Amino acid sequence: MKEVYKNFIGGKWVEAKSKKIFENRNPADWGDVIGIFPASGHDDLAKAVEAAKKGFEIWRRVPPPKRGLIIQKAGEILLERKEEIAKLMTREMGKILDETRGDIQEAVDTALYMAGEGRRLFGVTTTSELPNKTCMAIRTPIGVAGIISPWNFPIAIPAWKIFPALICGNAVVFKPASDAPAVATIFVETLLEAGVPESAINLVYGSGSEVGMSIAKHPDVKVVSFTGSSETGKYLAEICGKALKRLSLEMGGKNAQIVMDDADVDLAVDGAVWGGFGTTGQRCTATSRVILHKKIHDEFLDRLVERAKKIRIGNGLKPDTQMGPLINEVQLKKVERYVEIGIKEGAKLACGGKRYIKGECSKGFFFEPTIFTDVKPNYRIAQEEIFGPVVSAIKIANLDEAIAVLNGTQYGLSSSIYTKDVGKAFYAIKEINAGITYVNAPTIGAETHLPFGGTKNTGNGHRESGFWVLDTYSEWKAVYIDYSGTLQRAQIDTYKKEG
Ligand code: UN1
Repeated sequence: MKEVYKNFIGGKWVEAKSKKIFENRNPADWGDVIGIFPASGHDDLAKAVEAAKKGFEIWRRVPPPKRGLIIQKAGEILLERKEEIAKLMTREMGKILDETRGDIQEAVDTALYMAGEGRRLFGVTTTSELPNKTCMAIRTPIGVAGIISPWNFPIAIPAWKIFPALICGNAVVFKPASDAPAVATIFVETLLEAGVPESAINLVYGSGSEVGMSIAKHPDVKVVSFTGSSETGKYLAEICGKALKRLSLEMGGKNAQIVMDDADVDLAVDGAVWGGFGTTGQRCTATSRVILHKKIHDEFLDRLVERAKKIRIGNGLKPDTQMGPLINEVQLKKVERYVEIGIKEGAKLACGGKRYIKGECSKGFFFEPTIFTDVKPNYRIAQEEIFGPVVSAIKIANLDEAIAVLNGTQYGLSSSIYTKDVGKAFYAIKEINAGITYVNAPTIGAETHLPFGGTKNTGNGHRESGFWVLDTYSEWKAVYIDYSGTLQRAQIDTYKKEG
């Protein structure tokens, strides 16, 4: 029996109006069907928005500390169900259990942080230029928030978006990625059990081209948050821009780790293994380039290649697996294509480069950890986001060259430098053009109380996480309270001469 999943609209679990469905399968074992899901369309989305508008009227009136208690409860439920959700997530999108547990923990951390915001949501009180008058700036909710999330962090990223949207008093229409849809149902169940009013959270399954686009186009969705590719993000930006709709984008990366000649090479290798091959390289923060000082270049690569060859590839549900599959066949073909491109461009394949089909792995989309050496900064494999276990090594002679290479792509998400010289570290922090810089740590591993996002084609100026994300989901209101009992004209009476 296949598990049948439904949309959640206006307090009811319902099929798509068209009754169309899609299947989701396990990327480690393609014969394993996780379930069938509604392939929704514009009508379903429109219903969800109608419901969310009603939900907004209820939810925005709930005092923020109470909203916080509900979100805290949601975090506690996620923590209790961590093991069960982690297993389902590994089955549906492939990353290993340690990582799916981490994904859920990231959501729990966000819940606890945002619960606290219920008692803060700080605004500003300030002076006035006129006597007996006081001024403040307060946050107000926006309305219906449309959330479009990716498959690589199927609970953490929806949590990054939905918890802050809710704490600010918005209602939500949530479209999860079709490659990791099952855990989205658990996430919505969690919110309901915690006490979010039914119509304030709506779940609509379906494709980006149908449901995602409808979210962007619907006039009553007032803020949209999207994580995914830069191509899709640009398209959404056009639609939302025309409608003067707020849009928070978190898109691609081509993150690099610089290793200087004074670095602890073992530590830097540990970082590159985790940053490059963790989540099978399918993170927007993945380390897809290592920029190596010529003095440690050969030593670093020898060790990195040795380590990469030893990575245990397999089904993420097995406790000793270190790297799971790619998400689907399309992604597998894309990675294969980039390997061909790299070879044609003149890079040398130091290890990997092909599909991994040993034993049980022939049933899924596994790929060997792959390292290219002799890569020039302008090669396509060093410029374009691959989203797979492929690391390109580039040799440099000094720090300025390293930073120029690191900065020389269209993206600016994460970055890293390994050095023992505090001066070099601070210089790099200043000169690197990216939203995130790590010193002596890999490019992955963002914590939920810091701003997350990037520069250039990675984003459009917004940040997720921490208190910065509240600016995405709230509208600032300036309030002036005049208790002078007279008409006081700013800019005019302020400068009027006495007598
Ligand atoms: C992503 O890949 O879109 O810093 C998010 C990290 C994780 C989040 C990644 N905490 O790698």
